[in-house]
Amino acid sequence: MEQTFIMIKPDGVQRGLVGEIIGRFEKKGFYLKGLKLITVDRSFAEKHYADLSAKPFFNGLVEYIISGPVVAMIWEGKNVVTTGRKIIGATNPAESAPGTIRGDFAIDIGRNVIHGSDSVESGRKEIALWFPESPVNWQSSVHPWIYE
Ligand code: GTP
Ligand code: MG
Repeated sequence: MEQTFIMIKPDGVQRGLVGEIIGRFEKKGFYLKGLKLITVDRSFAEKHYADLSAKPFFNGLVEYIISGPVVAMIWEGKNVVTTGRKIIGATNPAESAPGTIRGDFAIDIGRNVIHGSDSVESGRKEIALWFPESPVNWQSSVHPWIYE
């Protein structure tokens, strides 16, 4: 089944939003397939956001991501990449709808609480980068109550 890489950024961890954010993905019906609290160094953060290296905000973005621990997660389910991005909300919290994570909990684009893969392919790459160890293999027993 489809997987995505979700990261609660340092501001989300500092502000005590970890449980709230995990709860939203869990209650939707997605399956948690990887989870760790981790601080990353500059070169790792630069690798994660390599596609944005030419942007003027790149250095600030890297400083932000290395400023404290983050919660790295793998979530699984039908359309989890697209639906995950909907749960997260627009990149700029000023434009994120209420009810989304960024719409409910963020103000500034450079403190937008959470990251989610933007395609199945980037999800695959990001999961390989953040979870080089083999992920725990488990199946939820409620599957038939979520999928028809
Ligand atoms: P991620 O899920 O974090 O990848 O966000 P996104 O996919 O919604 O946006 P994108 O990949 O384009 O940008 C990555 C991150 O860079 C954003 O989440 C912001 O934290 C930051 N960012 C993007 N655009 C800007 C900007 O114009 N100014 C600043 N300061 N930060 C930005
Ligand atoms: Mg992105």
